Amino acid sequence: MIIIKDIPKIQELRKLQSKQIWGFVPTMGALHQGHISLIKQAIKENDVCIVSIFVNPAQFNDLSDLAKYPRKTEQDIGILEKEGVDVLFMPEAEDIYPRDFNTIVKNLNLSDQLEGMTRKGHFDGVCTVLTKFFNIIYPQTVYFGQKDVQQLLVVKKLVYDLNYNITVKGCPIFRDSNGLALSSRNEGLTLAQIRSAAVLFQSLLLAKKIVSKGEKKSAIIIAKMEQLINQVPSIKIDYIAITDVVKLEPVQDIAGGVLISLAVYFGSIRLIDNIEIIP
Ligand code: PAF
Repeated sequence: MIIIKDIPKIQELRKLQSKQIWGFVPTMGALHQGHISLIKQAIKENDVCIVSIFVNPAQFNDLSDLAKYPRKTEQDIGILEKEGVDVLFMPEAEDIYPRDFNTIVKNLNLSDQLEGMTRKGHFDGVCTVLTKFFNIIYPQTVYFGQKDVQQLLVVKKLVYDLNYNITVKGCPIFRDSNGLALSSRNEGLTLAQIRSAAVLFQSLLLAKKIVSKGEKKSAIIIAKMEQLINQVPSIKIDYIAITDVVKLEPVQDIAGGVLISLAVYFGSIRLIDNIEIIP
């Protein structure tokens, strides 16, 4: 695996490999099975699999969250080597955002709801860094997990609006045996918390069951989910939302496919999960 930190070096490599099909998996490191499933797919479908590890300061609105984000570079490099990744791009923050950097890429319609409510400016940071990465790397395909479903929609719109010739692939959520969606943030949970966190997926499955029995009122479904989650006293709900799957606007009465998404806090650790339901 070639490890590159410098932007000009990766641009040089891309020029040399201009005929190759590059599949790109952007990450912030602390890799888990969810990332590995994206990487395996990228390796299978492309001539070259490139992974980035960059804890992007621009997408954190809370400096303490940025400081405690898990960093496991050595372990990550071992995983990527073992998987057979071709290129690892690991830029420094000062190269991505030099002192005079003053451009933001913003999605106007999908940035302020759900994750954007608590994490102000989060998607501006995601869009800005991915725009830079796409311009540097020229991938043909990029891979994202559906756990960050809002991010996936935002990136699809970014690629469409800015005319990138890139295919954006959303890959299924990877869950542990209890149903907890894998996330780098799970690193901060105790074993007991990991066990209790299974209630998140249980609440989504409960919602699915209630809908399949004919319940259409989002408020009733959300109340039942809250009731279940609140049985774990150490969890604080940030939001539970039922929205459409395109604009992420709240749905009061379910008539077609909806996205049910949630975010909770375990102390200072914030977890998200979602399920798409077609009644
Ligand atoms: O999902 C993530 O890990 C990040 O938001 C991403 C896509 C790597 C951009 O920094």
